[in-house]
Amino acid sequence: MAREFTSVGVVGLGTMGAGIVEVFARNGIDVVAVEISAAAVERGRATLTGSTDRAVAKGKLAEADRDALLARVDWQVGLDALHSVDLVIEAVPEHLDLKQRIFAELDRVCKPEAILATNTSSLSVTEISVATTRPNQVIGIHFFNPAPVMKLVEVVRTVVTSADVVADVEALCERLGKVDVTISDRAGFIANALLFGYLNHAVSMFESRYATREDIDAAMKLGCGLPMGPLALMDLIGLDTAYEILDTMYRRGGRDRRHAPVPLIKQMVTAGLLGRKSGRGFYTYERPGSPVVVPDEHTPVTTGGALADGARAITKVGIVGSGTMATGIIEVFAKAGYEVISVTRGAEKSAKVCEAVKTSLNKGVVRGKLSEEDRDAALGRINWSATLDHLADVDLVVEAVVEELSVKKALFASLDEICKPGVVLATTTSSLPVIDVAMATQRPADVIGLHFFNPAPIMPLVEIVQTIRTSAETSATARAVCAALGKTGVVCGDRSGFIVNALLFPYLNDAVKMLEASYSTADDIDYAMKLGCGYPMGPFELLDVVGLDVSLAIQRELYLELREPGFAPAPLLEHLVTAGYLGRKSGRGFRDHTKR
Ligand SMILES: NC(=O)c1ccc[n+]([C@@H]2O[C@H](COP(=O)([O-])OP(=O)(O)OC[C@H]3O[C@@H](n4cnc5c(N)ncnc54)[C@H](O)[C@@H]3O)[C@@H](O)[C@H]2O)c1
Repeated sequence: MAREFTSVGVVGLGTMGAGIVEVFARNGIDVVAVEISAAAVERGRATLTGSTDRAVAKGKLAEADRDALLARVDWQVGLDALHSVDLVIEAVPEHLDLKQRIFAELDRVCKPEAILATNTSSLSVTEISVATTRPNQVIGIHFFNPAPVMKLVEVVRTVVTSADVVADVEALCERLGKVDVTISDRAGFIANALLFGYLNHAVSMFESRYATREDIDAAMKLGCGLPMGPLALMDLIGLDTAYEILDTMYRRGGRDRRHAPVPLIKQMVTAGLLGRKSGRGFYTYERPGSPVVVPDEHTPVTTGGALADGARAITKVGIVGSGTMATGIIEVFAKAGYEVISVTRGAEKSAKVCEAVKTSLNKGVVRGKLSEEDRDAALGRINWSATLDHLADVDLVVEAVVEELSVKKALFASLDEICKPGVVLATTTSSLPVIDVAMATQRPADVIGLHFFNPAPIMPLVEIVQTIRTSAETSATARAVCAALGKTGVVCGDRSGFIVNALLFPYLNDAVKMLEASYSTADDIDYAMKLGCGYPMGPFELLDVVGLDVSLAIQRELYLELREPGFAPAPLLEHLVTAGYLGRKSGRGFRDHTKR
């Protein structure tokens, strides 16, 4: 029989603690909520009232239930109030000495059978536990932010946590409607170990002005379907907390440079820019604690959708290539009203591409997303050609041929001879340096990367890749074109992986390394990222969809260009590729897809 928890204590009512109070009180459990001062108690109480009032306003909670929920909470200053609770969850700032002091005190105050839990994200639960005389009753219960919303709880057992305590806490999580994964005591557990390297990397992109905060966040939201971008997430977590987590992970997790906090984070913490809780972090908020972003001096100024800075007029667009990307891009431009010339390597290929575009447009008609007239008009705007000479008078060329540098360079050299002056020459490469392609022409200032995502007609994102030779006019033109296509164009520099792949693939590779180290299972790691961080797919699901060979190739490129030891491809990924386990396309990757 699992232990019955009728009353629990929560220590620290900040970002996490106030949410944890709500989780318990919502599930009929009495809570003693403890803070360091009356003012801090008031802040915690205000957070809870705000959250439950919002739930009532949205019709998710009845008024009577809210009142009952609030009545279950006993607000107190000081740990002495916790003498008769069955379980305490500590959620004070991420400092080992502070947590150890609190646990020593809890050990003295709480009844002997009480379970003492920490919500730490990165500190050693074992080190916290030895500050008490009952380390076998100490456990990690790691909630995710916002606690009332996120389904995941990581239950962290140390080598001395008793099996009964683990079982009791697992049963409690179930009662709270949470999904738990039980793991051992390692820095960052599952989710944060995979998340924080990515967050830190995103901050370094911002710090080095590789891309703007809006573009980094839009890239990850629109390119990967994440619920929020990395910098907005840093603001939600709190920069002080994020700093401590990174710092601890760096020290405990093998001094991986990717966890060494980017200097900007410390500067922001020192300057009081802690994120949402202080009203300002990477973004500015309506007021402290508010989720509403307001414009500030870094907010980009837009005029009618396009940015005001000398874009060239584009009416006629050439698209070179006959693969999946070229086909999708032809459709995108034709639907947006551009006159399109598709150039392939022969009439047969053109016929195939034409068929594919028709099929896709017809699907749009069947689904009611496109009228028959619009379909016919879009098709009428496309001219099919097998010779580059027809691109002599286009305003923009989008190249989407095979991902081989020699082929792309030769093509750009030809375009340079054929096209009129002033044309913008764009490559859709996802991994080659755009500058190499640009230098195959006599007009590198007119060359830019336009990295569309697959399927191009659906994915809303385009990475606009500027080389060190790209002119401001070319870049403005590319941004205006993306806006006219109804896509979000994000501008970045010419580095391996641009924004999305550079941030995504190392995370996937880290997940493989975690699996390889037998820290957890593929299922639990996938759960952790989906239920803890709201990702649409777990890393192993995504790897199997993308293809392990493709993922390995991208990871290798990143490693070779950036020489970051932590980016070295996971040996397990290499072995699976060698064994022909490439993911869904070969029937087997991390999972066996032939049985499903
Ligand atoms: N922020 C997140 O997204 C997140 C997610 C999961 C876990 N965590 C972990 O939760 C813990 C709390 O983080 P947070 O982001 O809520 O921090 P926070 O700074 O928002 O809140 C901490 C609260 O603890 C209070 N406090 C400090 N000393 C205290 C004491 N002696 N007694 C009682 N209360 C005290 C502070 O007044 C403050 O209100 C950390 O261990 C953190 O790693 C954070």
